Amino acid sequence: MAFSARETGAFLKKEIGRSVRAAVILGSGLNPVVGELPTHQIIPYKRIPAFPTAGVKGHSGNLHVGDFEGLPCAFFEGRVHYYEGHSMEQVAFPVTVADALGAQILIVTNAAGGIHPALCAGTFMLIRDQINLMGTSPLVGLQPSDGAISFTDMSGAYSDRLRALAGAVFREQGEDVFEGVLAAVCGPAYETPAEVRMLQAMGADAVCMSTIPEVIMARTLDMEVLGISLITNRAAGLQEAPLDHGEVIRAGAARVSSLVSVLKGLLPRLA
Ligand code: HPA
Repeated sequence: MAFSARETGAFLKKEIGRSVRAAVILGSGLNPVVGELPTHQIIPYKRIPAFPTAGVKGHSGNLHVGDFEGLPCAFFEGRVHYYEGHSMEQVAFPVTVADALGAQILIVTNAAGGIHPALCAGTFMLIRDQINLMGTSPLVGLQPSDGAISFTDMSGAYSDRLRALAGAVFREQGEDVFEGVLAAVCGPAYETPAEVRMLQAMGADAVCMSTIPEVIMARTLDMEVLGISLITNRAAGLQEAPLDHGEVIRAGAARVSSLVSVLKGLLPRLA
């Protein structure tokens, strides 16, 4: 890499001229959230030194920086996935950039398949804990010069404080919200029904192909983390129709306005 994450952060700080308090990573189908942001700066990922570019359908690849409900925030429109062939270091790169921009809070959002019976398409889950089944971690091979300690404590990875605040906002908006455990697999194939039964037996309530590496990096960098999964489908074997990515994007688009309302209610409380 021509630039390290910190050098990239310094570049952005110069370009943006100020730091942010929180960063939000938008998951599949949830990118329309950025259409609701007031006047703000848009920096295409491809202009950012060393920033891996997103390629999956539903991800366009822009960093948005501005005040959202009075809180200086960075929104990552488009996520970098392991299944696209990026390294784990690249997958977690937006988090190291967010940290370099001064973000102390990371909000990760994603699309996920529902395993718990309560999690049907269109419901939201606040992530309480995670199970990493991706087979690797962004901390593998991390150099001490990157300023990170590799033996990160992952107990309490998701902030109780932020989850309680977000839960209250969901309820105020009249939205049912579930709290549960998220598993991440490598993808890009969806799980088999047998794999979903295994995940269920392990204690997973929902399954995705992202997010978990970002949270590992965020905790390594001592950021406070909130995770919101939008359940876009029942996991394999739990619904009759075959799974397809178009369904995930459509389910995201159908619920994006609720997510925007929740973020609008939540962000001022983080100031
Ligand atoms: N499995 C894994 N990732 C997903 C799913 C799923 O069923 N739905 C949306 N992302």
